[in-house]
Amino acid sequence: MYATLTSIGAYIPTKCVSNKDLEAFLDTSDEWIVKRTGIKTRYFADSNQKSSDLGIEAAKIALQRANISHKDIDLIITATLSPDYINMPSTACIIAAGLDIANVPAFDIAAACSGFVYLLSVAKAYIESGMAKNILIVGAEKVSSVLNPHDRSTYILFGDGAGAAVISATKDKNLSILDVHISADGQYAHYLETPRMQSNENEHNIVQCMSMKGSEVFKIAVAKLTSEVKDILERNKMTACDIDYFVPHQANYRIIKAVGDNLNFKNEQIVLVVEKFGNTSAASIPMAMNILYEEGKIKKGCTLLLDALGGGLTWGSALLRFGGD
Ligand code: UT7
Repeated sequence: MYATLTSIGAYIPTKCVSNKDLEAFLDTSDEWIVKRTGIKTRYFADSNQKSSDLGIEAAKIALQRANISHKDIDLIITATLSPDYINMPSTACIIAAGLDIANVPAFDIAAACSGFVYLLSVAKAYIESGMAKNILIVGAEKVSSVLNPHDRSTYILFGDGAGAAVISATKDKNLSILDVHISADGQYAHYLETPRMQSNENEHNIVQCMSMKGSEVFKIAVAKLTSEVKDILERNKMTACDIDYFVPHQANYRIIKAVGDNLNFKNEQIVLVVEKFGNTSAASIPMAMNILYEEGKIKKGCTLLLDALGGGLTWGSALLRFGGD
């Protein structure tokens, strides 16, 4: 039995925030942000929306496009760095309840911006071992909830959103997730973190904001993302020409450009949505795939190569043929 990705869906919050909007309260400029990151806008969820709300909307679309009932889902996994609750309940449990799915396992994984590739790896293993038949995977992020609005080095980079996919069992290897590789190195844990701190005034008031050593992460990202793709192509006896679309994690235009150039991808093969959405962490790859899908570019059998790096540090790549209609 093989695992195939049969559908993709996404949810984009309605509130669009431009670089000019950020200039009003941060010591930054549209010019700096565009030049250093390629980002022009990002979308922020409403104050009453949680990551699960975004994930539920994305999941509904993915289920409908997979032409599958929610009753057929036998596992739900969510990747998020901005869970609804600290530790429990998991965001996956909230999403399951919102979709009226019960009595199946639901759990979260914490792999930050590599979350979607980690989800694919777990889903593939569950299907190939016969432990599940139809899995819903969701990258759901209200990153704005863990950002410090006074920190210009992070606040300008991130956005909110969600992406979901259905992974099902198939006998057709040609339409399957051909290969997934994930890895991590905790020696870089402090490069990207949301420390759990207690404010002095009120010990129950837990303040959690992300901090990042941006230029250090940048250099590791270019090196790791390049070597991940080289290795997965080599392992599967493919070259850049065999890939229809390269869908990298959308952190920074300059990282994507450097990796794309290192790997000899043509511009039309590289999927770029960072300009519109900013970095949406675990939601970034499925949100990018969803744009491709809605533009009619992803067809059955289309070969996609995914590549991500995030907090942990974690990283990974996935090679798959789209199995949906
Ligand atoms: O998704 C998870 C993985 N994350 C990433 O892959 C992110 C990787 N890192 C990056 O994308 C880039 O490092 C950043 C976009 C975060 C920063 O770009 P950079 O070219 O590495 O800039 P820098 O951090 O070296 O800062 C250059 C200058 C500094 O000023 P000085 O020291 O040269 O005077 C910063 O203080 O730019 C300043 N700066 C800003 N200026 C205006 C930093 N943030 C801003 C800002 N607006 N928002």
